[in-house]
Amino acid sequence: MAGSVQPAAAAPGTPATLEVRGLTKEYRRGTPVLRGISLVFPDRGITAVIGPSGTGKSTLIRCINRLVEPTAGAILFHGADMARLSGRALREHRRRIGMVFQEYNLVERLTVMENVLSGRLGYLSSWQAFLRRYPPQDIAMAWELLDTVGLAQYANRRADALSGGQRQRVGIARAVMQQPDILLADEPTSSLDPKTSVEIMELLAGITDTRHIPVIVNIHNVPLAKRFASHVIGMAGGAIVYNGPPGGLTDDHLNQIYGGEDWQE
Ligand SMILES: Nc1ncnc2c1ncn2[C@@H]1O[C@H](COP(=O)(O)OP(=O)(O)OP(=O)(O)O)[C@@H](O)[C@H]1O
Ligand SMILES: [Mg+2]
Repeated sequence: MAGSVQPAAAAPGTPATLEVRGLTKEYRRGTPVLRGISLVFPDRGITAVIGPSGTGKSTLIRCINRLVEPTAGAILFHGADMARLSGRALREHRRRIGMVFQEYNLVERLTVMENVLSGRLGYLSSWQAFLRRYPPQDIAMAWELLDTVGLAQYANRRADALSGGQRQRVGIARAVMQQPDILLADEPTSSLDPKTSVEIMELLAGITDTRHIPVIVNIHNVPLAKRFASHVIGMAGGAIVYNGPPGGLTDDHLNQIYGGEDWQE
């Protein structure tokens, strides 16, 4: 493994926010998509996960919050193994993991405000959730976040009336409403134009800086990854082939990650 720089955790003896050990995923038995990945994710900044299509980046992110069941290995979130949690304990850990999607995953017929508020659903009792009865402090937090992402004036618009960039801002505000300890983003800019992509990465960079939480981003755009990430994980064939700062990522690494095709300028 090249340059295995592992930025320090918060304090000695304190577990990293997120670590995976020997993480393996087989959708079909005998065909591993993730091949025993072990990684300590940095506690701060944007970590970009790059790698060719089909190499398991989404699978990695989805295993972390158990949208996908890992086949083997541990996912240590604040030291607790997500892979072994169930029921209430799983729900309580999962709500501290914010998730941002390529296709936004908004409820199209609901308003922007309702979509953002839904980030709190994991904190409501079942009757409150059923009635969608959010406490006033949740509503105040939603207004604050809508302001942060520049969408306060769109609060009562339906989600399906927004542009892609605006939708992604709603998706990010919804994830931050969870008051997450970590934010996972699976190709948050792949459906967006280059300028909007930069704006979304700036927003994610602002979140990691002001909220002091790690942000892990699957991203295909290597220049964008290098510009915004403080750490890069390069995957190929379901394994880690680079784990270090963006400055250490050479053309040789990129050839190893993406194959030695003449795709580079
Ligand atoms: N639900 C599933 N059932 C079966 N196979 C799956 C499933 N999800 C993903 N795979 C397979 O696992 C492999 C890794 O897929 P994954 O989506 O994690 O890759 P990726 O690196 O995110 O790719 P992309 O860059 O195209 O998003 C692929 O071969 C894919 O076909
Ligand atoms: Mg993917």
